[in-house]
Amino acid sequence: MNTAATNTAAKGRLIAFEGGEAAGKTTQARLLAERIGAQLSFEPGATELGNHIRSLVLNSSGPQPTARAEALLIAADRAQHVAEVIRPTLDGGTHVVTDRYIGSSLAYQGIARQLGTTEILAISEFATAGLTCDLTVLLEVDSHTALQRQAAPSDRIEAEGNGFHHRVMQGYRTLAAQDPKHWVVINGMGNVDEVAEAVYVAVKERLNV
Ligand code: TMP
Repeated sequence: MNTAATNTAAKGRLIAFEGGEAAGKTTQARLLAERIGAQLSFEPGATELGNHIRSLVLNSSGPQPTARAEALLIAADRAQHVAEVIRPTLDGGTHVVTDRYIGSSLAYQGIARQLGTTEILAISEFATAGLTCDLTVLLEVDSHTALQRQAAPSDRIEAEGNGFHHRVMQGYRTLAAQDPKHWVVINGMGNVDEVAEAVYVAVKERLNV
């Protein structure tokens, strides 16, 4: 399945970081954005509306969304994120590095929640008006390292069991293998600087940014 296509209309490039919990995405997204002069962003919750949606999706207390409601709430966050942040920034000629994007919905909702990647891709395409990533960087760490890095589950989805998180990681590997032109897998087990260098080299090679 082709989960990404080059955004010919956009002037800046869109790069997403993906990975399971505690893979080091947030740090690596920030370091890459600083290095290439990109706008750093994240999902869910980068806009004011999105911040409300993030609480609805991730709070362990309060009403619990069904899997389908969760997928739609996250898609609504993405729609707002694209319209308010990503699209205007790309159109202004600045690259965007986002900590999570469509790949997260495919892995978490499509595969781990078993809603189906075709269905999730369809709602993501609607939400983004077809804006796909130029490159998705998958940071891989083994589950032992991820558990060590993660102090305690801080949200409803993090608190899912090991089976769920195993399906997420397997899902990511499958997505990356199916679309090697738009996904690059980076070993996230080294120290922060080593991983940052590997990410930068891979992004430069693919996108020449
Ligand atoms: P974060 O911890 O990286 O901020 O991500 C918040 C949680 O939201 C994380 O457990 C993964 C989940 N999530 C999805 O399930 N689907 C999505 O499409 C996105 C963007 C996040």
